[in-house]
Amino acid sequence: MSPASARPVQEKQSEIGRSVCTESYELVHGDCFEWLEARPEHSVHAVVTDPPYGLREYTDEEKRKLRKGRGGVWRIPPTFDGCTRRPLPRFTVLTEGDKLRLRHFFSRWSALVLKALVPGGHVFIATNPLVSHLTYLGLIEAGFEKRGEVVRLVQTLRGGDRPKNAHEEFHGVTVMPRSCWEPWGLFRKPCEGRVQDNLRKWKAGGLRRISDDEPFRDVIKSAPTRNTERGIVPHPSLKPQGFMREIVRAALPLGEGVVLDPFMGAGSTIAAACAVGYESIGIELDSVYFQMAVQAIPRLADFVPNGDSAARDRRKGAGQRKLQL
Ligand SMILES: C[S@@+](CC[C@H](N)C(=O)[O-])C[C@H]1O[C@@H](n2cnc3c(N)ncnc32)[C@H](O)[C@@H]1O
Repeated sequence: MSPASARPVQEKQSEIGRSVCTESYELVHGDCFEWLEARPEHSVHAVVTDPPYGLREYTDEEKRKLRKGRGGVWRIPPTFDGCTRRPLPRFTVLTEGDKLRLRHFFSRWSALVLKALVPGGHVFIATNPLVSHLTYLGLIEAGFEKRGEVVRLVQTLRGGDRPKNAHEEFHGVTVMPRSCWEPWGLFRKPCEGRVQDNLRKWKAGGLRRISDDEPFRDVIKSAPTRNTERGIVPHPSLKPQGFMREIVRAALPLGEGVVLDPFMGAGSTIAAACAVGYESIGIELDSVYFQMAVQAIPRLADFVPNGDSAARDRRKGAGQRKLQL
């Protein structure tokens, strides 16, 4: 396959919005709810996505505050080593109303995803330990089977601080644990009959092994997204290619079919799909982020994450594994 950066691009206009296509991916500028409603049944083989965990952080008002660098749910984590931190959304500020909206959002979304997926199709969905139950409930209520969680082992700089304005008085207390992992819920649309029959008919129902000797595992060491990747595209929630390529590859058990990311952002899922040789579709609502994805995907797909020590360790240990990490 030619490098992603060298592939020809076509543009078209649909009812939902502008779309940009290459031979391996389609990017749609629009609302994923509208797109999913129009999508034929059984036409997607896996979903790998990193949605707005708490919803509020990607509302127009909060994005305006983020872009101005002032107030809102986006906060700079406290500095302890002199390094400048990037803003992270806070989920401790969500109200009961926000949580109810979050749950309804994922119920509605999950029902649409269930229809579009083939039987046995998997969903990998990023979340945060404070709100994951609300996301997962929507998927379970829609009819998905919970198949576990993938733990991305990563230092997130969340939590770990002492009580506000009483740091000295309670110097031995931490209010919340320092977060060292990111949960990715793993769900499956029920298979039609046995897994083997489902695999034959729908090319779905299991997860692709790393190699003959190694199954896919649910704990993956990962570094935070490095500046080398952030230099390609400045989306505030960009996920690293090393990690994304591992989970995207696992999502199609036979390496055949279409991977969907309905909350594409700057396109790290689509770039990962491109790097492992899969077809994919990405949907993004925000015009600034959509344009970022159009520009960034070919470069992210060609990116070799040398600076990522976790990816390097895996490569060293991987021997003959055919993974572009
Ligand atoms: C957490 S970010 C995804 C970041 C992505 N993983 C990356 O690496 O760039 C979630 C994205 O979903 C988008 N979004 C929110 N609601 C949407 C909707 N209804 N349809 C499509 N995209 C939406 C937001 O604009 C945001 O860019």
